[in-house]
Amino acid sequence: ENKQYFGTELLKWYERSKRDLPWRRHRDPYYIWVSEIMLQQTRVDTVIPYFQRFIERFPTLKDLAEAPEEDVLKCWEGLGYYSRARNLQAAARQVVERHGGTVPSVKAEVAALKGVGPYTTGAILSIAFNQPEPAVDGNVMRVLSRYFLIREDIMKTGTRTRMEELAASLIPRGRAADFNQALMELGALICTPKSPSCLVCPVMARCAARLEGAEDALPVKSKA
Ligand code: ADE
Repeated sequence: ENKQYFGTELLKWYERSKRDLPWRRHRDPYYIWVSEIMLQQTRVDTVIPYFQRFIERFPTLKDLAEAPEEDVLKCWEGLGYYSRARNLQAAARQVVERHGGTVPSVKAEVAALKGVGPYTTGAILSIAFNQPEPAVDGNVMRVLSRYFLIREDIMKTGTRTRMEELAASLIPRGRAADFNQALMELGALICTPKSPSCLVCPVMARCAARLEGAEDALPVKSKA
């Protein structure tokens, strides 16, 4: 079936093609969290040196919680969207107060942290704890809309909800961490917004958009 094929082939491709990114060398939920916050509005190449400096300066969540805010902002300087840094530190303080400094692995507790939305919740639970939660961002919606030929407007809340249900149903048993990162990786390296590299895509054979020649028209995204 197309769903199982997708998961199997994507995981095989990821094992041989994944980039050696600094946050992939750690399983510490705090490091995964920092990386996901940085990556939300910023490209991987830009994030790498910032991530490395950040975890050198604040090696544990406790170090971040206890630091003066200006030190945190100083470390974030040039990355932009500074509310991300303020929220991250506020959330680190929440974790110290509510959870004794250990990042929680319960969905509602993760989702309650400052600056942590549905995407980041899913990313932390899946990548750090291997829980079968979807982590759906724009890249993932692009991949799914093409492979499954979903012509719904991705700016609509209902579309995102359906994408999350679909993404959850695709996770191979016990492989949430790798699968979700593989989806992101496919969106970043192959299934790109313009001129996707279909000829080297591991799931091209069953990609519905490819079969229709519709890959350039997807995802459907309304303005505003
Ligand atoms: N974009 C968002 N999260 C990512 C991750 N963990 N690896 C690569 N790119 C990403």
